[in-house]
Amino acid sequence: MKRIIKAALITATGVLLALPLAAWGSEEDGVTEKEVSSAEGTPPEAPHSLTKGGELRNCLACHGEGINGAPQTPHPERLTCTQCHGQGEIRVDLDKPSKGTEKK
Ligand code: HEC
Ligand code: HEC
Repeated sequence: MKRIIKAALITATGVLLALPLAAWGSEEDGVTEKEVSSAEGTPPEAPHSLTKGGELRNCLACHGEGINGAPQTPHPERLTCTQCHGQGEIRVDLDKPSKGTEKK
């Protein structure tokens, strides 16, 4: 009888130890970058290039009002955008005619 209890305890401990590892793995797979970044309050990365012709883009030209699918900045008072927002994986080409409405 004692043996059975001991075996059960060892199995239970093994399962408990494995749980956090399993949860950790699935979180990394199932959660989008955006969900992670908003959950942690970290700045999202730009899905487009930050520069054009070697110069920094005028971020507020699009993000000030939120034109052409650009999300409006929640904090227009923070002017040094690239201090916090890095460039992520590029999904959007801002220089395509449909998005290229930046005023110079
Ligand atoms: C010509 C317009 C334009 C300019 C200029 C521009 N962006 Fe964007 N930005 C966009 C658009 C459009 C999106 C949304 C792309 C999408 O998700 O489809 C975007 C998305 C982003 C996002 C992601 C926001 C989120 O919620 O995930 C960040 C961060 C960002 N831009 C930062 C910048 C920074 C920093 C600059 C200046 C260096 C800049 N952008 C200049 C159009 C622009
Ligand atoms: C001091 C750091 C910092 C600076 C500077 C900064 N941001 Fe952000 N930004 C953040 C953080 C953090 C978030 C995530 C939302 C939040 O917690 O406020 C964010 C969110 C955003 C978003 C996402 C809004 C949405 O609804 O998805 C956009 C767009 C954005 N910033 C644009 C800009 C632009 C444009 C500038 C420059 C004019 C800028 N940011 C400067 C930290 C910064």
